[in-house]
Amino acid sequence: MTKSSVSIAKKEFAERRQELMAMMEPNSIAIVPAAQVKVRNRDCDHAYRQDSDFIYLSGFEEPEAVLVLAPGREHGEYVLFCRERDRTMEIWNGYRAGPEGAVKDFGANDAFPIGDLDDILPGLIEGRERVYYAMGNLPEFDRQVMNWVNTIRSKARTGANPPGEFIDLHHLLHDMRLYKSKREIKVMQAAADMSVAAHIRAMEVCEPGMMEYELEAEFLHEFTRCGSRAPAYTSIVGGGANGCILHYIENNAELKDGDLVLIDAGAEYQYYAADITRTFPINGTFSEPQKALYELVLKSQLAAIRVAKPGNPWNAPHDATVKVITQGLVKLGLLTGKVDELIEAEAYRQFYMHRAGHWLGMDVHDVGDYKVGGEWRVLEEGMVLTIEPGIYVSPDDLDVDEKWRGIGIRIEDDVVITAKGNKVLTAKVPKKVDEIEALMAAAQKQRNKKRK
Ligand code: GLY
Ligand code: MN
Ligand code: MN
Repeated sequence: MTKSSVSIAKKEFAERRQELMAMMEPNSIAIVPAAQVKVRNRDCDHAYRQDSDFIYLSGFEEPEAVLVLAPGREHGEYVLFCRERDRTMEIWNGYRAGPEGAVKDFGANDAFPIGDLDDILPGLIEGRERVYYAMGNLPEFDRQVMNWVNTIRSKARTGANPPGEFIDLHHLLHDMRLYKSKREIKVMQAAADMSVAAHIRAMEVCEPGMMEYELEAEFLHEFTRCGSRAPAYTSIVGGGANGCILHYIENNAELKDGDLVLIDAGAEYQYYAADITRTFPINGTFSEPQKALYELVLKSQLAAIRVAKPGNPWNAPHDATVKVITQGLVKLGLLTGKVDELIEAEAYRQFYMHRAGHWLGMDVHDVGDYKVGGEWRVLEEGMVLTIEPGIYVSPDDLDVDEKWRGIGIRIEDDVVITAKGNKVLTAKVPKKVDEIEALMAAAQKQRNKKRK
């Protein structure tokens, strides 16, 4: 995989702002703050990552910024507050667009220095009946918003009109984000492609005696080489029973001959996430019990992908995994009883304790409601979701035969709903037993040749 050049065009950011403004109630204003910089240690910050809602509407990557949409405003509907240009700061910390750049390069109709926020924003809010704002994410900014409103209220006797209503911006914005455009799908395909390449690379280099973090390093290398600036979430590399810990991120144990390794890792590219899990044998060959459970997880995943199509409800893929996994666990003797009754009693949760997936987009667990009016949402073209069933047999589960204990398996792909069905963005990472074994055997052969 080589580096990608696909990205969201400026025009699309403008279209998103227009679409949002068209849905806002009359005489309202929307306020969206940028993400805050977070200290990592003493005077070193975490790598900055813009807030997904903010970047979705602006494409503007700098911190200390506030986006305002004021439909119908005479001097421009899209107002951006941002840092001023500063030669010294730019020499030390990098380029800033400044208010001039916000207008020229980012499509703002009007832009001001962030330091002028307290002076200017109350004036923009004044006279608007409703404020669209996502309360509760940034407590400091929440207080600022209330201060601006109180400033207007304090002037009510002089004829100032404070807003009467706050509306959660997320309802509108997150519904927009749930439906991906053609360009967004292309960017997500690029994130998927680099993640696919990294998973294949991990299968190729894996051998007993390596440390989990050495495999993690292969991912970081491949992601960065392809133009990703960060993983979409902290990579999970769990050898043996560590694969049974759903959010295992220590990644510091040795990979042992005869165990499986579960890797859940995906790149973020241009603010869009990929999210892939593969589980494979560290020595390249599945044992019989590993293979039996693996093939059951795979069968359930394929059944779920088949029902991920327009018109089906959100939970159809999950229900498909539950059915196949419960039937299989009974057949293998891990559960006993009637399949229907076991499903009703959720007996499968002893081994399969999470749901089959989530929305995927700018955030790995992306925004968008799963239920509408109390009913599971119907899948529609442009929605992207993961399908990721698993079976995890705790190493100290005395209810089951010893041969199953400590086996943790998950298989996860990223699926976009299309007009007629779906497309699996991550299909190129092998997931059939014979494909994985063949890939690993070929890589082992190459390795042995080089070592001779
Ligand atoms: N990597 C997080 C998840 O699969 O949901
Ligand atoms: Mn995952
Ligand atoms: Mn996932």
